[in-house]
Amino acid sequence: MPESQSGKSPFMVAGAAARAGDLIQDTKTFPLKEDAIGKGEEPFRQGDLQFANKMKALVVDDDVLIRSNVAEVLRNDGWEVCEAESAEEAFEMLHRDCWSLVFCDVRLSDKNNEEGYAVLRSFTEEQPEAQIVLMTGHGSAVGALDAVSSGAYDYLMKPFDVKDVQRIAQAVRRGIEKRARSAVTDASLSPPVYTSDIDLIGVSAAFVELMKLVGRVAGTNLPVLITGESGTGKEIVARAIHRRSLRGAKPFVAVNCGAIPSELIESELFGHVRGSFTGATVDRKGLWQEADGGTVFLDEITETSLAFQVKLLRALQEGEIRRVGSNQTLRVDVRVIAATNRDPEQEMREGRFRQDLLYRLNAVTVHLPPLRERREDILPLARYFGECMAAAGASPIGFSIDAVRMLENYDWPGNIRELENAVVRAAALCDQVVRPEDLPDRVRNCSKVAMNELVASEREVSGADEELLSLAEVESRHIFLVLARTGGNKQAAARVLGIDRTTLQRKLERYNLEQAEPDDMAAKRQHG
Ligand SMILES: Nc1ncnc2c1ncn2[C@@H]1O[C@H](COP(=O)(O)OP(=O)(O)OP(=O)(O)O)[C@@H](O)[C@H]1O
Ligand SMILES: [Mg+2]
Repeated sequence: MPESQSGKSPFMVAGAAARAGDLIQDTKTFPLKEDAIGKGEEPFRQGDLQFANKMKALVVDDDVLIRSNVAEVLRNDGWEVCEAESAEEAFEMLHRDCWSLVFCDVRLSDKNNEEGYAVLRSFTEEQPEAQIVLMTGHGSAVGALDAVSSGAYDYLMKPFDVKDVQRIAQAVRRGIEKRARSAVTDASLSPPVYTSDIDLIGVSAAFVELMKLVGRVAGTNLPVLITGESGTGKEIVARAIHRRSLRGAKPFVAVNCGAIPSELIESELFGHVRGSFTGATVDRKGLWQEADGGTVFLDEITETSLAFQVKLLRALQEGEIRRVGSNQTLRVDVRVIAATNRDPEQEMREGRFRQDLLYRLNAVTVHLPPLRERREDILPLARYFGECMAAAGASPIGFSIDAVRMLENYDWPGNIRELENAVVRAAALCDQVVRPEDLPDRVRNCSKVAMNELVASEREVSGADEELLSLAEVESRHIFLVLARTGGNKQAAARVLGIDRTTLQRKLERYNLEQAEPDDMAAKRQHG
């Protein structure tokens, strides 16, 4: 029996003789198509078909009603849709065309409970650009975890809503459009990247690796402790974990523990009853209860008092809380994600943080590296913040090579938040292209030493000095100059110099420039 018939089907039709093309009768869980379609946040514009060749979707389900209904929703969103009723047919389709979006049932026949996962694996391996959504009538946390960790874009439990299909289809479509647009305007600079409904930008190996861990723990109920300097993205990562967890549709309540006076934090979090302290004039529900079923994000957790830490530990261990002034316990189901920009182990060693609470919270620790340790992320982040400004009505901006070099050289002690502020400010000051003068002084000054070096060596290379140089000397200095300008990127330097990388490599070896830092060059100039 197809799995959708075994449980509550969202696609039930009146009478037994359901044929493909019948209207959906169960309008509560899956409203009539005419009503539902086109009400998404971003209806497909019929005239806007330039990316249509990328918009191919496949729907795989042995239940004809589910299949045809999902297909219909997608067609109304502008997709070209094919249908398959078995894993075999899906594999055939996989080799026949390129797909951007695949909705696939997990249990495709009575014999096998998990063919959908095999389809998922084949598609992610052979067509990594395809976004796969698994649909299941037998949803489970491990099912979702396995799906997401095997690369599924999403995991839908039946019955689901038309809106779920629309939300996914639109997000995937936006990703395709965004990629196509950036391919047109910025072909050499922005290779196509995967986009998601979560705006978490980063391409550095360190960050990508970390997000794999985040993806793996998201679907679990484990507490997560996020550490990292201020502005490294602890909150945005906490939100991503929540969004990708089974609690994603439930509340995410962020509490800045450092900003709440210690005498108030217990009542803020757990609530209080009337008369329990001066000023408690009415009963009040705490934030913990507001988050029931969802996630509480305890930011700056190491700023809490030891007395409060005991109460927090109890709430975590027992899964229940007590309002201030009440004897009654309340069961509340929350997942906790905590964050700190201090070193929690050190706080513990120095007696400011309870060991038992730390071990309760850090089932999984995610340490976000500072931006200066993942400089490859600087430019994509800067571009992203520029795009956000443009989306909010500002004119689109680009970055001059010098500005990029400065952004990439600066150490960003305030991390991504500081970069965001710098880009927002620059976007307001500049005329379409962000140049060094649009950047904050501290960013510019940081490159000053290197800049002085460059100016000096430029002067020498241009022959403004008295000293006469040999051709080899001029060449070696010029190569060094270009390398400094490209931030040490040999590929880019070779391009500027008009030679291939191997030739550049040979010259670097010949002139002993392989390890040269700007200081070495200064020394070279003085002594030689
Ligand atoms: N990877 C990222 N992609 C896009 N935006 C990011 C990313 N990381 C951080 N941001 C943005 O940078 C800003 C700072 O991030 P966030 O508030 O999450 O940092 P934080 O580590 O919680 O900082 P603090 O310790 O000061 O509370 C936010 O505006 C956030 O949206
Ligand atoms: Mg924060």
